[in-house]
Amino acid sequence: MHSHQRGGHRRIDLAGLRVPAASYSLPTASETLHLGPEAPDRFDSFYAGRLSVNDLTAAETEFIRDYFLIQLDAVRDENIAAFERRVPRRYATARPDETAARWAEAVTADPRSAPSLLVLGPTGTGKTYMAYSALRAVAETGLRVSWTAFTEPDLFAHLRPSYGRDDEQALRDVANTDLLFIDDLGAAKLSDWTEEVTYRVINYRYEQCLPGIYTSNIPPKELAAAIGGRIASRLTEMCDRVSLKGDDLRKGARS
Ligand SMILES: Nc1ncnc2c1ncn2[C@@H]1O[C@H](COP(=O)(O)OP(=O)(O)O)[C@@H](O)[C@H]1O
Ligand SMILES: [Mg+2]
Repeated sequence: MHSHQRGGHRRIDLAGLRVPAASYSLPTASETLHLGPEAPDRFDSFYAGRLSVNDLTAAETEFIRDYFLIQLDAVRDENIAAFERRVPRRYATARPDETAARWAEAVTADPRSAPSLLVLGPTGTGKTYMAYSALRAVAETGLRVSWTAFTEPDLFAHLRPSYGRDDEQALRDVANTDLLFIDDLGAAKLSDWTEEVTYRVINYRYEQCLPGIYTSNIPPKELAAAIGGRIASRLTEMCDRVSLKGDDLRKGARS
């Protein structure tokens, strides 16, 4: 069992069944022959919360625990590989601080009730770093989630009307991703169109309670004017705000 123990027990708390929601499959009858014909139904009831861990036999408990841990390891490996394929090289080694780790924990426990993060601070204070570190932290928990990252200008480039494409579908795809990271809100020039697109994406996520990470180097007092009042007010309501301060980390950087 040792290969399964890398942090897995924290989440696979069988008493509380803190298995990341909807990330796991249950054993089939042929996998549980040694536990008798009732076992698949019993595990089904257990997963659904109708049976508690105290209702399971020792053999059933041991079996289901290993069964979940093996899947947790597999999902985590897939997640990390997918993260490393897509993370920008500069942030590939970003590791979560306490704030990022706590957010990842909340997302994993229940994505629909987790807050989003609004990371504010001047240029070079580590906003993008924090966002990618938080996405990595979620990947490492073993939660099966999709994620999408755009800088605001790239998001507008991506959503600009494109001949032969269903532009509404493109917008829905962005709005619907499990975890959305929009970097540098307010970096692109504000127009009626950019404001409308941002509003529709953010408002959709607000209404569906979908978590994300949004960053900006606009001072808080100027945010509403820079990105539009409706968007700023949605963000304020749905996000925990993180203010990064300090010197520009890029100045005097060794690399
Ligand atoms: N906590 C950190 N530990 C190590 N390097 C960091 C940390 N936060 C930021 N950096 C580095 O400092 C530089 C600026 O960070 P970045 O996230 O790009 O700033 P911002 O997005 O706020 O402009 C980057 O090279 C980044 O890798
Ligand atoms: Mg940045």
